[in-house]
Amino acid sequence: MLKKFIHTRIFHDKNPENFTCQIENYFHKKIILLNTNKKIHLSQNQIERIENTFSAYCVAFKDYLRVCSASNIEYPPIYSNSGVKLGVHIMDLNPPWDAELLENYDMPGMITREESKYYKWISGFYSGKGRVVELGPWLGASTRSIVAGLRSNQAFSGQTLLVFDDFVWRKSWMDPYVEEKDRLANHQSFRHLFDRYTAPVATDLTVQRARFAVYDGNESVPPLQWDSGAIELIFVDCGRTIDANQGWYSALSPYFIPNKTIIVLQDWRLHREVPFRWYNQTELFTLSKKQELQMIHELNDGGVATFLYVGGKQ
Ligand SMILES: C[S@@+](CC[C@H](N)C(=O)[O-])C[C@H]1O[C@@H](n2cnc3c(N)ncnc32)[C@H](O)[C@@H]1O
Repeated sequence: MLKKFIHTRIFHDKNPENFTCQIENYFHKKIILLNTNKKIHLSQNQIERIENTFSAYCVAFKDYLRVCSASNIEYPPIYSNSGVKLGVHIMDLNPPWDAELLENYDMPGMITREESKYYKWISGFYSGKGRVVELGPWLGASTRSIVAGLRSNQAFSGQTLLVFDDFVWRKSWMDPYVEEKDRLANHQSFRHLFDRYTAPVATDLTVQRARFAVYDGNESVPPLQWDSGAIELIFVDCGRTIDANQGWYSALSPYFIPNKTIIVLQDWRLHREVPFRWYNQTELFTLSKKQELQMIHELNDGGVATFLYVGGKQ
């Protein structure tokens, strides 16, 4: 019933104020009803089902509100190397990166096709004002897509993509993505696999082993340190917890350029997973930086959301 109500309101109500009031009234009534009703016995299984249904509605509502708020987002103009102005795209069905052509790298990877296209497309907006950084490339599928975009961008000539990872193999979630021959012992370094799969673009990379937070076998890896000046474009794919994200943010955000640095967060949309899981803290992390980060893109297929660093805007 709730689903039908939302559907009718969203698709047939042309008056935004009316729509807002109806949604508010609906939930007010339901909450009062819940508070005054006599308790009934529910099994654990039934409670979980209800919880998950409400979580799913909550995700759908918040998705919808982000799409609606896209037209409110304002930021200074940013142009690509071919003069295209960077727009806001929140779950667009026909986003501009759709037109990107992809090479087949024939290698394991954890990102979707839409994400590969996006990585290539967004790299066209690099202007040379700071460095391009990737955190968490794993075997380099994302790295190859980023370099594909950077190579056709004049502003990148004479530069390298700075890549950081702890290169620690975690059998439980890495093994399923590779063939038997590439499976390593738990906590073994996988740097040689990264080097093999990124060999065609090795001259475009500066690679360093570093950890962003202490995590599962990386205790002896040195912490991330930065001495390469301003950062203009950064791709982050290294964990969903506040701890993991705060690690790189503390080390690198002093080098971000207000109204210029673009931050691509690969795992952001994982907070939408139902049932909710404690470690999916990406939305909480960006909320905690609300004055500094403005969302500008969100993909449909995969986990990517992208933020512009606005540097302490009130
Ligand atoms: C999901 S994988 C990245 C997938 C990759 N971008 C691709 O295209 O296939 C996450 C990567 O982050 C790295 N990582 C996770 N936590 C880390 C940490 N605390 N410090 C350094 N690297 C970390 C892992 O070693 C792994 O390479």
